[in-house]
This record gives sequence, structure tokens and C-alpha cells, in this order.
Amino acid sequence: MSKAIGHSFSCVAGRCGDNARAAIRLAFHDAGTFSLELQANALPNGGADGSILTDPNEVLRSENNGLQNIVRLLGPLPTPAWLSRWFIYHNHPSQLAGVLAVLACPGGPQIPALVGRPPPKNVAPDGLLPNPEQPVAELTARFADMGFSIRELMALIGAHTTGKQRFVDPAKANSTFDTTVDIWDTRFYSSTDLNRPGTLKLESDANFAVDATTTADFNRFIGNQANWASEYAAAHEKMSLLGVDVTDLTDCSEILPLSIDITTLTVASTGGGKPATDPLVDPVKLEAAIQQFRSIWLVPQ
Ligand code: HEM
Repeated sequence: MSKAIGHSFSCVAGRCGDNARAAIRLAFHDAGTFSLELQANALPNGGADGSILTDPNEVLRSENNGLQNIVRLLGPLPTPAWLSRWFIYHNHPSQLAGVLAVLACPGGPQIPALVGRPPPKNVAPDGLLPNPEQPVAELTARFADMGFSIRELMALIGAHTTGKQRFVDPAKANSTFDTTVDIWDTRFYSSTDLNRPGTLKLESDANFAVDATTTADFNRFIGNQANWASEYAAAHEKMSLLGVDVTDLTDCSEILPLSIDITTLTVASTGGGKPATDPLVDPVKLEAAIQQFRSIWLVPQ
């Protein structure tokens, strides 16, 4: 088991870099193919079963563009039959890597690490992952079919705090969704400036911020890191269990490193005035915290 965990740790590499953000998106693209309607009709379903890692074609779908590299890194390793009782989840650590990746981003909360997933029953059904051009009502309905409320969806979408895009507007490849892409902060919710250089807002995220059905739940996280972290962690745990029998799993959460509390790392106040909604994190204090709390995990740069 420790070998499998070590594999996921080394892929994510302890920093909020491109592998970490891809691993968070991968966890969603694995789980987000789950459908309550398919389940009710006993049809082949998706879910957090690792099929995106084990099926050679699923990751080639256009909706999974950008995930091919992390799939190659996390992909199946040969498992001797006699060891498969313990190593079976090694073939699809997509959810474990997602949990580690959130923690690799300073400010990211601990989410229970539940491992030991049986092999996927089938390739995930196609066409169930959301795209940013869909209207809000379609997106909230799709997440409701996964089992998420609007409030949970608004907490989950905050994962874009650490995201970049490459395929929505290839001319602006690597533009980020907020100005602090390497920190798990609430700036994604508050950054309403659509024209800031180097950033790009997805149409769906811009719509969530203002649509009558989502605006209150979207904006309630602004400046409320602790509240968002706990609601995000609960929603992400639920996501990591979609379509999975939790009684099959082993809770391995004791292996998780501590979360880095970014609210203690802000630039010293200059005094006077109202506190900033999103105080700036001091890069020197941040690096010191990474070195202190991630020392075992960090790979040499
Ligand atoms: C309405 C729902 C969602 C839509 C429409 C959406 C759409 C997208 C798109 C278009 C990208 C950019 C892909 C690219 O061009 O490279 C992206 C990136 C990303 N998404 Fe989402 N997403 C949604 C929900 C989520 C959820 C629920 C999570 C996780 C819990 C998530 C995590 C991420 C991350 C971390 C990235 C950045 C990946 C990277 O930088 O490599 N997304 N998303």
C-alpha cells in the first residue's frame, strides 16, 4: 500500500504545480460521469471508479483534453495477481491523487483519503461532463443528477482557484482563472475583472457569479476561506465516492500532510482602512511554510 501511496505522492510532488491542478481536474472527470438516472435504470454508469485511468480510450475524448499527461503519470502499474488484494487500487489512484493535489496547494483542506477501490465495471458513459458553454440551468441539472445541490456545486467550482485553461481559448493557453493560481484561496470567487492580463474567466463561472439561482451561493465564499475550505472538503469527499461502495474502502487519512493555513501568511497590515477581502499572501512566509510542512514530500526542483 505504501508503494501505491508513494506513487501518487511523487506524481503530485508537493507543490501546487501543473500536475497538482491536473490531478484535481482528473478526480472530477473520473467521478463526474456518475448519473443517478443511469443508476435508477440499472444502466452502465460512471463514477469515481478510475475508469479514466484504466480504459485506454476514455482519456482521449475531447472533454478530457489536457488530462493525458497526468493519466500517463498515474496510469496502471503491473500488479502481480497474488498482491492484488492489497494493490488493486494502485491501478487507479485518481481519487487519492486528487486529495493529495488539493493539499499540495497552500490553503487546500484535508479531504478523507479513502482507498482500495475495486476495478471499474465499464468505461464511463460519454457526454456527461459539463462544458463552459452550457447554460446555468443545464449545468445545475447535470450536477443534481450527480447528487449535488447548487450550494455544493458552488463550493466545488472553487477548485478553479488553482486552474489554467489551454483548450477553451488556445490563443491564451496557460491563462489562469484567478491571479493567485498557486494558492487555494477565495480569489476565484471575488475576481470579477474579466480583462486582467494572464487570466481568463470561463463563461460558466462568469454566469454562476450572476445567475439568480447561483449568485448567492457563489458569492458567499468571498473572503471566507474557512467556510469555503470546509464546504469544499465535504463536497469533494462526496464527489470521490460517487458510484462507489464506501464499505469497500479503507480510510488512509492518517498519511495526509497538514493543510497549510494561508490566513496566517498574509502580508503585514499597513494599519488603518478596512481589511482586504482577499489579503495578499507573503511569498517569503509562504515558501517557509511549504518548506516546514512539506519537507518530506518535496522533490528536488
Ligand atoms: C460547471 C462545471 C465545470 C466546468 C464547465 C468546467 C470546465 C473547465 C474547463 C473548460 C477547464 C479548462 C480546460 C483547459 O482548457 O485546459 C477546466 C479546468 C479545471 N477544472 Fe473545471 N469545470 C467544471 C467543474 C470543475 C470541478 C467540479 C472541479 C473540481 C472539483 C474542476 C477542476 C478543474 C481544475 C483544477 C482545472 C484546471 C486544470 C489545469 O490547470 O490543468 N472543474 N474546467
